[in-house]
Amino acid sequence: MAEKGSRPVFNPLTVIGAILTTVSAVLFLTFFFLELLGLHANPYFGIFFFLILPGLFLMGLLLVPLGIWRERRRRLRGLAPTEWHWPRIDLNDARTRRTAAVVAALTLANIVIVSLAAFKGVEYMDSTPFCGEVCHTVMEPEYAAYQDGPHSRVKCVECHIGPGAPFFVKAKVDGLRQVWAVTFDTYQRPIPSPVHTLRPARDTCEQCHWPERFSGDLRRTFRTYADDEANTEQAQVLNLKVGGGGWRRGGPHGIHWHTASNILVEYIATDPARGTIPYVRMVDATGAVTEFVVEGVTPEMLAAGERRTMDCIDCHNRPTHRFAPSPERAVDAALASGLLPQDLPFLRREAVAVLSEGYPDRPAAERAIAERLQAFYGQTAEATEARVARAIAGTQRVFAQNVFPKMGLTWGAHPNHLGHTDSPGCFRCHDGEHRSKDGRTISQDCELCHTFE
Ligand code: HEC
Ligand code: HEC
Ligand code: HEC
Ligand code: HEC
Ligand code: HEC
Repeated sequence: MAEKGSRPVFNPLTVIGAILTTVSAVLFLTFFFLELLGLHANPYFGIFFFLILPGLFLMGLLLVPLGIWRERRRRLRGLAPTEWHWPRIDLNDARTRRTAAVVAALTLANIVIVSLAAFKGVEYMDSTPFCGEVCHTVMEPEYAAYQDGPHSRVKCVECHIGPGAPFFVKAKVDGLRQVWAVTFDTYQRPIPSPVHTLRPARDTCEQCHWPERFSGDLRRTFRTYADDEANTEQAQVLNLKVGGGGWRRGGPHGIHWHTASNILVEYIATDPARGTIPYVRMVDATGAVTEFVVEGVTPEMLAAGERRTMDCIDCHNRPTHRFAPSPERAVDAALASGLLPQDLPFLRREAVAVLSEGYPDRPAAERAIAERLQAFYGQTAEATEARVARAIAGTQRVFAQNVFPKMGLTWGAHPNHLGHTDSPGCFRCHDGEHRSKDGRTISQDCELCHTFE
């Protein structure tokens, strides 16, 4: 039996660990219950309470055994006055029983706290405010467009991560890299698209949209405006043959044919933006395989490219982060929606002109917009003054929704593949140049995808 010395738990490392653990547990639990009672703190508090505190808690927890282990080694090496022996655990001894009960209770409490913290940490990192607001400058363009888009009630993670553990882990590992990039300011501006690691749409979009059920045509009106005094409107009505997986009709057909469950379209893109697609392979509903290749493309070019199975985001690449391709398009959309007053003479021309300039930041753009429109419309009668104010506010909003100088994001930085008028889109494949061995091409027939009214 060794002489009785101070017990190895009383060493500085273990004591610091115990204090750290206790303080962070108390703070974490307090915040957790306050949140349960309805307190909604700003997302930056979340970083401290749901990420840093649990980290300190775990660190403290690790320091406790580490301290004991170190102290034991010190004593074994004869650096400390007493020799270390494993404690004799004798449950007949009332003191040992009490200690064992305390250790068991503390362990249970720690497990509960760690699980709660892990749950809250994950929930917090999956929340839209965390994704959209914490990295405010970096995510500003995507967050702004998202809030304005059809998916503003869908959480970022439902498209970007999807369900299940493997993608969750992958996303978190990716997330660490992103935190690094933001901290040390090594990220690209604008953030490049496409997101090459995005999960296949089958597991994300198709959780909510059931493409087999699409059917029929979609009637859409495209409105454009002239640069004349009346901002003359021109409307073009298209019936888009949206089609579907053939739930009602004989088989997959129309625009959603590509993603029907018994169709496979694969392609090779030779540029990172997936803008150039010289090779397409299709397996149709009968199982027949056809390869379409653009003349002049070499096997080396294809081997260096990115091979991909076509899914929703090869057409709907901007389902929720939509930025106008040009000032003309943005102003047309604003005139059509009523954001800009159609009855203000020459507004189309003036708004496009002022939005086409480059500006160092948003305040500079807002000043320039106000000054130019104010100067152009001059001292107007009271009846139109309100319209000029609306025109200024509307034009400023068009700028704020589409141009983000801090992120280097301006007109056309993120082309939309859903169409063919502003960027190649469908015509990356449907250009009549992709030929199969038996001479078939991927059709560019104007009535393949829509009819005109
Ligand atoms: C409806 C699905 C959906 C939702 C919801 C969504 N995103 Fe996206 N996001 C996408 C798709 C699709 C892309 C483009 C991917 C591609 O082209 O590969 C994208 C791209 C991005 C990019 C890359 C830059 C760019 O503009 O292409 C960022 C950053 C981004 N999203 C952030 C967010 C944030 C932050 C939220 C939540 C506020 C969010 N996303 C919500 C689908 C979504
Ligand atoms: C969590 C559910 C959910 C997910 C995931 C989701 N969507 Fe949606 N989506 C919706 C809802 C709800 C609407 C209808 C919004 C409305 O009508 O206001 C919608 C609307 C749309 C529309 C019509 C938009 C318009 O302008 O009218 C398209 C296209 C679309 N989604 C594509 C996608 C794509 C592509 C993805 C995957 C990247 C996706 N969605 C993921 C729920 C979802
Ligand atoms: C080949 C390109 C293409 C692919 C692939 C594609 N879509 Fe579409 N989708 C379109 C076009 C074009 C429209 C018409 C939209 C428009 O002009 O507003 C459309 C319309 C829609 C709409 C709106 C339908 C309505 O009636 O309002 C939804 C929702 C949608 N798509 C979801 C999806 C989902 C989910 C997938 C993947 C399973 C998908 N799409 C794959 C091109 C495509
Ligand atoms: C990656 C290449 C690729 C892209 C991009 C693409 N398509 Fe296709 N599409 C094909 C192929 C391959 C076929 C089948 C051609 C054939 O059978 O001869 C096809 C067939 C079609 C068909 C006929 C389907 C049927 O009923 O049989 C429609 C409609 C269509 N595409 C619409 C679109 C639209 C709209 C877009 C853009 C939003 C688009 N496609 C983008 C490759 C593509
Ligand atoms: C592969 C399918 C496809 C083919 C082929 C095609 N279009 Fe389109 N077109 C589309 C889609 C999809 C849109 C809708 C884009 C959107 O929703 O913004 C569109 C939109 C349009 C618009 C309205 C665009 C706008 O933004 O004002 C015009 C005009 C048009 N197409 C003309 C043509 C003509 C002319 C041809 C024949 C040379 C043609 N299209 C061939 C798919 C196609």
